[in-house]
Amino acid sequence: MKIIGYIALFFALLLTSCNPKNGSDSADRDPSMQFADSLLSQLSLEEKVGQMTNLSLMALAEGEFWDRRDTVILDPEKMKLYLDSFKVGSIQNLGTYPFSPAEWRQNIGLIQDYVAENTRHKIPVLYGIDAVHGANYSAGSTLFPHQIGIAASRSRKVASEIGRITSYEMRASGIHWNYAPVLDVTKEPLWGRTFETFGEDTYIASELGLAMIKGGGSDSLLSPYSGLACLKHFIGYGAPHNGKDRAAVYLPQRIVLQDYLPPFQKAIENGALTIMVSSNSLNGVASHADKSMLTDLLKKELGFKGFVISDWNDIDNLVKTHQVAKDEREAVKISVNAGLDMCMEPYDASFAEHLLDLVDDGEVSINRINDAVRRILYVKHKMGLFDQIQSDPIIYPLYGSDEFAEIAKQMAIESITLLKNENESLPLRRSETILLTGAGSNSINSLNGAWSRTWSGQDTTFNDKQKLTLKGALEAKVGKDKVRWTQGSDYDVAVNIKKAVQMAAGVDRVVIALSELPSTEKPSDIDELDFPECQIELVKQLSKTGKPITLILLEGRPRLIEEIEPLVESIVLAYLPGNEGGLAIAEILYGDANPSGKLPFTYPKYSGAIWSYDHAKADARDKGFGFEAYDPQYKFGHGLSYTNFSYSNLILNGDSFTYTDTVQVSVMVKNTGAVKGKEVVELYVSDLFASIVPKNRSLKGFKKIEIEPNDSTEVNFYLAKNDFEFVNSELENIVESGEFKLAIDTHKIKLYFHP
Ligand code: BGC
Repeated sequence: MKIIGYIALFFALLLTSCNPKNGSDSADRDPSMQFADSLLSQLSLEEKVGQMTNLSLMALAEGEFWDRRDTVILDPEKMKLYLDSFKVGSIQNLGTYPFSPAEWRQNIGLIQDYVAENTRHKIPVLYGIDAVHGANYSAGSTLFPHQIGIAASRSRKVASEIGRITSYEMRASGIHWNYAPVLDVTKEPLWGRTFETFGEDTYIASELGLAMIKGGGSDSLLSPYSGLACLKHFIGYGAPHNGKDRAAVYLPQRIVLQDYLPPFQKAIENGALTIMVSSNSLNGVASHADKSMLTDLLKKELGFKGFVISDWNDIDNLVKTHQVAKDEREAVKISVNAGLDMCMEPYDASFAEHLLDLVDDGEVSINRINDAVRRILYVKHKMGLFDQIQSDPIIYPLYGSDEFAEIAKQMAIESITLLKNENESLPLRRSETILLTGAGSNSINSLNGAWSRTWSGQDTTFNDKQKLTLKGALEAKVGKDKVRWTQGSDYDVAVNIKKAVQMAAGVDRVVIALSELPSTEKPSDIDELDFPECQIELVKQLSKTGKPITLILLEGRPRLIEEIEPLVESIVLAYLPGNEGGLAIAEILYGDANPSGKLPFTYPKYSGAIWSYDHAKADARDKGFGFEAYDPQYKFGHGLSYTNFSYSNLILNGDSFTYTDTVQVSVMVKNTGAVKGKEVVELYVSDLFASIVPKNRSLKGFKKIEIEPNDSTEVNFYLAKNDFEFVNSELENIVESGEFKLAIDTHKIKLYFHP
């Protein structure tokens, strides 16, 4: 590794950057900005455009781009073409098979060495990857619950820990840049990427997104354990109008600003440095062509100082999918002029060719190019890429360790949500014999979902052999003699339902693990929200045996269970809990852990009744003209425990507040049951009267606490003006004086807010 060369370059550039005239903004004393300005002034147009190009690793490897690989060998000719001739400044991803950390370091090292030896300014390449639930493309890394589970945990600590360990293992693999977190809010349960999000609530996505980014090291980017976050996907991606991935989004601008922007805004206010554009169109404008969003809102209004990258091949999609550009050249022009700084052009460098041509012809200004490249160099410097391309592998002894696996198990436990528990059927008794069956009962892939060693997560070849499926985990917990197993059903086809029914006769209880087929993006599109018929049939047939049934749901979105819910005693929603998910479920099932997850989405009962909890009051008008129509299978925030909590003494520090006051809300929570438990205390605000139809309620605070039996804890929340705001039709964030209702659990209290 040519680290010394980079260090020398760093100091040389730092010296030249002392002249403030080099800066685009001489008032900006940020050393990284000065560095970027100085280096920028020395780059040729080709070098600048190269920095704006992000190429896939497959494009540098021997063989055809889409070849199925079990090894990647970098092709010297392709390296020369892309790194030397096109001067590409960023490489990304691999989802075909997982590299070991050593393989990652070797390949990225070869790229960095090539750049150091063959290019004039030796600007390190920025490598980006989708490490969305752990460093999932690194063999043997720790795999955590997907984001939807983090949202269910309602724990900033969980989000932060997952961020921390993901960055640690990514850096152990020599990778700095993570295309995560997903900050898309989604109220569309059909959408196949729901599992990658924090669910339907804006406040949860804002809080947990920030916790994950900070845990990942955003405040100490120079540390060898920190990762650079890429917020995605900007903006509205989670609201495809027909539930299909990448479909058009139609959202009033005030709703975009009010409900979809805040998670991004919060991260940006806290220094997030890269952001990915979403593939969709928003109100008829393709996001990659949307100057009002990328430049006016993001860069000017929000003051975003980092750079904007496209999503996969999405410049081409301006031509082929959105039909807003007649050819690729025009697409590049529209997108770069709209504010795109780096293009994820996976297959080749045609973006760079077109951009050079466009600058030559005066269709893209050199100022726009300079702005983009300055941002990229700024970020590269800010994260220490120039002086620490790769850190010493020995400083990552905990990579894939038991210690991290134990943390991952605890994170999964925190996320698992007990939806139903009739007749106190859970925890299970160790003396009982169970029949375990179902698509997810003996599958690591069902626990991990997509983005797990491979992109789709379906290939079993790369599963970590020592990790336990649910079957393995239950056998380890209570002994093989207590666990009978048969597959029963696969994802889409019945396997041996009859056999499962016969086996049920000989056991005390049946545990059925339903599962979605791991998938993401377009392959995750579904046409109906129900579980596939064969899985429903397995439950129905087994219910006829009269044996009590516990249902485990391994799913990234709420698949309908209305038909089978009455047939089972207990239901455990595990989402996609990761590699330690089997162990986590086993602990919950046998009462070694007490469930504390809360639904991060409204669980619909019918495909024709899709809601979010923060709907308008009118939506809840029922047939009897009351307001009881919001009757999902399970409400947002629902989640049972093996103990009970009671709430009392909901009080405020006043009843009338001005806009500069802080509203203190306190409540007592008592564990009235027999075992220790964690409770998520949630605070909702309702505006009782406003100039624009208010939401029924909005979550404005949550805290997770642990209480011993018979103990009580006081929980406090502090609300400020912005917690009472909404976006009006003039697109302003305003608060209107008047009455508001606060609610915690079933307790409610009113307050008056005025200027
Ligand atoms: C996805 C992004 C991802 C990118 C790189 C795209 O298809 O939409 O979420 O970061 O690919 O893998």
